[in-house]
Amino acid sequence: MHFSTLLGPVALATLTLAQTWSSCNPTLQTCPADKGLNVGYYHVDFTRGADADWPMILGEAAYDQDGVAFSLAGPAPGPTMESDFYFFFGTISVVAKSAKGAGIVSCVVLESDDLDELDWEWLGGDATQVQSNWYGKGNTETYDRGGFHPIADNQDTFHNYTIEWTPDFTRWYIDSELVRTLNFAEAVAPNTYPQTPMRVKMGIWSAAETGNAGTIEWAGGSADYSQGPFSMNVQSVTIVNQNPATSYTYADFSGTWQSIQKA
Ligand SMILES: *[C@@H]1O[C@H](CO)[C@@H](O)[C@H](O)[C@H]1NC(C)=O
Repeated sequence: MHFSTLLGPVALATLTLAQTWSSCNPTLQTCPADKGLNVGYYHVDFTRGADADWPMILGEAAYDQDGVAFSLAGPAPGPTMESDFYFFFGTISVVAKSAKGAGIVSCVVLESDDLDELDWEWLGGDATQVQSNWYGKGNTETYDRGGFHPIADNQDTFHNYTIEWTPDFTRWYIDSELVRTLNFAEAVAPNTYPQTPMRVKMGIWSAAETGNAGTIEWAGGSADYSQGPFSMNVQSVTIVNQNPATSYTYADFSGTWQSIQKA
């Protein structure tokens, strides 16, 4: 599932930060540099409260001993948080508990300005599995990218969801157990392996808000808010950045990792 569908036309019209459509796609035009994560090791603990590196780009969040909570109590655009920095290859671990409620989707999405993407997605109607997904350069020609991974009780228990992202392969882990590998060579078409600096979005959304029948069916129907509110919690995010830098710039329109310049 692409992050675009979750925001819906109304949100997209009002939310300039919402990517997937990208405000400046560096494979099509020259774009400003992206703010880089300038440390090799980064950790944020949301049980201590809000963090300036992680602004909300849609809706609001609450903070307590379970970390940050993204909640929906009725039909509304989904509360979404986004890192204000990008990182460029490395490992990201998110300790999270997904939201209940058929029709509610919890997500952790890594996305670049030229629409390379790596995802975790949890459906509120199914507490027993998580989906992994990836896109390269916004290519949605095939829908065989999704993976399904059993994980018991992901709505009531925190688990550690990790993506190890390298130039040669991407691996998804749950509680340190490898559940999926995507190799560079498996990615279709030239340069569609995810390989450009990414930032991180996290949050929940209601499939019904998209107005898209396929999305609503995928998510298990329209949410029944009499069973809500529905909340996803994130305790912490840890990132090991392979290429710490103040900024990342695309030196040409190729969208290859080799074209990324660090400053
Ligand atoms: C999450 O899993 C990764 C990968 O195994 C590990 O390196 C990291 O220490 C774990 N984080 C937590 C908070 O358990």
